[in-house]
Amino acid sequence: MIVGILGAGAIGRAMARHFVNAGCGAILSNSRGPETLADAVADLGGAARGVRAGTAAEAASADIVVISVLWQHLECVLSGLPAWDGRIVIDATNAIINPGFQIVDLGKRFSSEVVADLVPGARLVKAGNTFAAATLALEPAVHGGRRAFFLCGDDKEARKTIAGLLDQAGFAVIDLGTLARGAALMQFPGGALPGLDLVKF
Ligand SMILES: NC(=O)c1ccc[n+]([C@@H]2O[C@H](COP(=O)([O-])OP(=O)(O)OC[C@H]3O[C@@H](n4cnc5c(N)ncnc54)[C@H](OP(=O)(O)O)[C@@H]3O)[C@@H](O)[C@H]2O)c1
Repeated sequence: MIVGILGAGAIGRAMARHFVNAGCGAILSNSRGPETLADAVADLGGAARGVRAGTAAEAASADIVVISVLWQHLECVLSGLPAWDGRIVIDATNAIINPGFQIVDLGKRFSSEVVADLVPGARLVKAGNTFAAATLALEPAVHGGRRAFFLCGDDKEARKTIAGLLDQAGFAVIDLGTLARGAALMQFPGGALPGLDLVKF
């Protein structure tokens, strides 16, 4: 399975590392072009581990696509990409404008509902947004247990696929169910889970 990273920054690279450790290949993309990602590709093991840099369109054509761009870049990044056709999209974003840490007012909507509207036809799984990037980058084996990784989404099979890969990467995956159930807990700011670093024994 290939995982495409839309936004190979702090969160995108950390997500890529875990999926590569689970046996996936990866295509990293950013705004400046594939040639600027040589170090990131090498750091993840390069061609020997099925990792390469590509355009955003190439990353978005992968089996699983991680969205890990800043909120203000979402619409631009997600416009003009190939049709989603049921592929799994992982929404790791939070509705914060950075730099400046400005919280975006979404009314009563969860941020992943807004992202889902931008990827019509994709099966969206909300995952990765509850971690600080530095925590997400750490090994999932910790204190003799496994770091907890929360996810939710409306497609059960998509959740199961992502949960299986993250389990293989070494996490204790906690499936919170549908967006309506899970996003309230995972939403940042406001949810109970962001910023927690929990270990399952
Ligand atoms: N940092 C955290 O602790 C944290 C924790 C949880 C969730 N999040 C969320 O995760 C998301 C990413 O945050 P981050 O801290 O990882 O940001 P980041 O390090 O600034 O990375 C953002 C990435 O998006 C890329 N990008 C921008 N425009 C693009 C385009 N048109 N096509 C493809 N890639 C594009 C940037 O590429 P260039 O560098 O080439 O411009 C960069 O690689 C945000 O929504 C944030 O709220 C962050």
